[in-house]
Amino acid sequence: MELHITCIPGDGIGPEIVAEAKKVLEKVAQVYGHQMIFTDILMGGASIDAYGVPLTEQAVQTAKAADAVLMGSIGGDTATSPWYRLPPEKRPEAGLLGIRKALNLFANLRPAILYEELAGACPLKEEISKAGIDMLIMRELTGGLYFGERKTVEENGVKKAVDTLTYDENEIRRIAVKGFDIASKRRKKVTSVDKANVLDSSRLWRKVVEEVAAGYPDVKLEHMLVDNCAMQLVKNPAQFDVILTENMFGDILSDEASMVTGSIGMLASASLNETKFGLYEPSHGSAPDIAGRDIANPIATVLSAAMMLRYSFDLDREADAVESAVRQVLKDGFRTGDIMSQGCEQVGCSRMGTLLAERIG
Ligand code: IPM
Ligand code: MG
Repeated sequence: MELHITCIPGDGIGPEIVAEAKKVLEKVAQVYGHQMIFTDILMGGASIDAYGVPLTEQAVQTAKAADAVLMGSIGGDTATSPWYRLPPEKRPEAGLLGIRKALNLFANLRPAILYEELAGACPLKEEISKAGIDMLIMRELTGGLYFGERKTVEENGVKKAVDTLTYDENEIRRIAVKGFDIASKRRKKVTSVDKANVLDSSRLWRKVVEEVAAGYPDVKLEHMLVDNCAMQLVKNPAQFDVILTENMFGDILSDEASMVTGSIGMLASASLNETKFGLYEPSHGSAPDIAGRDIANPIATVLSAAMMLRYSFDLDREADAVESAVRQVLKDGFRTGDIMSQGCEQVGCSRMGTLLAERIG
């Protein structure tokens, strides 16, 4: 099969981790008889430096022409980088929000798994972590506070900033359907997270989610308020299968979920539209403090590439092979610095990519 993949190496550690994901994908291609055709585009700070904007129309068109997009990370140090002296709509993050919107990537899947071999990295007490963690956060990605109208004005000498949180029922329905579809292939439980005791958008969210749930009689639905969810994630993470939530809550809860599994360096993500097209990226940021030192953990990007094989190309066997390579490398005792523990061998980013590739096929 010919796989046309647009890559966005991006900023910070992005280029290093994408290089390792490509290395693993090339090995998959060789073993399973596929052809990977990679085209790189610039986004974020790299695009600002080259073109003065974080995302060009040309880059969007190149992304659209591919079957899937594989991304590293974008952005820099907000305190020191000149990118953050630009107006907000010209900063690196605007490129990421722009491509999500331009490609209509409304469904963001963020699996958080506690690997047996990394149990030691889990910051929770053993009596909690021993029940295991295997959840998927289904985050709405193109609505809510991120894309509502915003402005900063001055009224009678007082500055005032406004951000708007809007959802219509169609936006809620399509993400809820994705959430229930995936739950029906997992442990058949959806926890819909909202703030329905305060927000109108959450009350509509609840109503529409319940309508969708009626079409999935074998999936159990429960509602949870977002503040309680933040607490339950550290108190009893084993209770979660699919967490279905809106954009901002999903942003925050997915960072928390990744931390309870030990390292954000392990957390993959897929952003999908109604078709097979998707953008795949690690959930972590660009870590500018460790960029260019060959010490970043490429596993989240490699696992994102596995999600790409599964969701955009229906190559389940190949995706399984990549995921088993990750488990095997951990079993064999190799660790990057962020997940290092006693008795293991610490390796750099590039060596980790090579070790993973060696374990395919
Ligand atoms: C994420 C990131 C982005 C977001 C930032 C970089 C705009 O935190 O993908 O979770 O808030 O969506
Ligand atoms: Mg985030």
